[in-house]
Amino acid sequence: MIYNKITPLIIEKLKQIVGESYIFFDSESLAAYGHDETEKLLFLPEIVIKPRTAKEIGAILIIANYELIPVTPRGAGTGLSGGALPIYGGIIISMERFNQILEIDELNLQATVEPGVINEVFQNAVIELGLFYPPDPASKGSCFIGGNVAESAGGPKCVKYGTTKDYILNLEVVLPTGEIILTGANTLKNATGYNLTQLMVGSEGTLGIVTKIFVKLLPYPKHNLLILVPFRSLDEACSAVSQVFREGFIPSAMELMERDALDWVMRYVESSIVKLENDIQAHLLIELDGNNMEVLLNEIEAIATLMGKYNIADILFAESDAQKKELWKLRRNINEAVTSNAISKEQDTVVPRAELPKLVKGIKKIGENYNIKTVCYGHAGDGNLHIRIIKGDLSDEQWNGQYIKKAIAEIFLLCKQLNGTISGEHGIGLIQQEYMGIVFSEKALNLQKGIKKAFDPNSILNPGKMFG
Ligand code: LAC
Ligand code: ZN
Repeated sequence: MIYNKITPLIIEKLKQIVGESYIFFDSESLAAYGHDETEKLLFLPEIVIKPRTAKEIGAILIIANYELIPVTPRGAGTGLSGGALPIYGGIIISMERFNQILEIDELNLQATVEPGVINEVFQNAVIELGLFYPPDPASKGSCFIGGNVAESAGGPKCVKYGTTKDYILNLEVVLPTGEIILTGANTLKNATGYNLTQLMVGSEGTLGIVTKIFVKLLPYPKHNLLILVPFRSLDEACSAVSQVFREGFIPSAMELMERDALDWVMRYVESSIVKLENDIQAHLLIELDGNNMEVLLNEIEAIATLMGKYNIADILFAESDAQKKELWKLRRNINEAVTSNAISKEQDTVVPRAELPKLVKGIKKIGENYNIKTVCYGHAGDGNLHIRIIKGDLSDEQWNGQYIKKAIAEIFLLCKQLNGTISGEHGIGLIQQEYMGIVFSEKALNLQKGIKKAFDPNSILNPGKMFG
């Protein structure tokens, strides 16, 4: 696809749509909107626009479509697969002015929220009313709900409550051709036509720009308990995960932290809550929630007994809210701790949870073969492990070339063999698209490309993502 550059005349037209003060092309702004949290990638847009209404976005897209200018929608820029990177330049549409919670419908347990609302701000607003919006990515303090929808983001709570996709009832979307549609209805059930809502969720800003989000809520569980279980073997920690479910428990979080992940993050956030003995290889962080404390105490005891069948050290029961907060701070900061400690690439592997031991064993083997150190952590209860591949002694050529790509392809092939896939919650974006052929047949890929074409005939919206 050949795109055109933005001319002064086009800028004049765009100014008329959003007003002069919401268009930016100074080098500082372009640099700030040229990266997300994906490695050290930087692609400069030609301009950044901050519209306030769906109509304004529609008008921008009509111009972009006519002039063949690429448009990249952007939330808070916390993505880990490069979905918000403007790889062909063009226009960045920043959704930051769409920052209102429009309605919390307490009777229907639903809410209407704009895409630029920060996940945690929304969570806290509904908690005040005794309601619960569970999807909680590690970046919940800064990521936007719109970005969560775009990537079908997850987080620790998803093991019991499901990911973003399970909470989206309906969406208002501006299509690449400028029309504004609703994808569904604000109902818990819907058997009406194709499921456009779920097609939009996880479409990474390639099919339309979401301007209003209708979500379902749950009652907020009154109590929770948290334990940290230290394992002497990584393999046993992985095996224990599926046993907890098999014994009849559904934790509200079941997170794995390999030794290095915990070691690095404890130093990063300067915490000493965990005594990391030399022979400990991994920890499981297990949370239960519910309304009946007695039931929860019985269940946590049963889980502790079950864990006792493995080679573990003393379990840490979080006794206060402060301790719980500290443990969660450790878990949530692993990504940043590893990033600040070493040059690395993250893979968002996911397999059926009972295959976790095979996944981890296979990854360590691939690591040995390629002389690559890997650090594993993440949502073990979902079978969703984040694998940080550390550059270590690899040369720049190995790190940036075919060598590392071959290793990553082997990891993804292993996921596929275990009936898993190559992203559980971070998306494909820019960096994982070359591996899509590992998990999709040509026919399945072409069907998806056909959908893209139906929505965006000129391929102006977030081009170069997902399929290249
Ligand atoms: C996490 C992010 C990286 O789970 O998904 O920490
Ligand atoms: Zn995660």
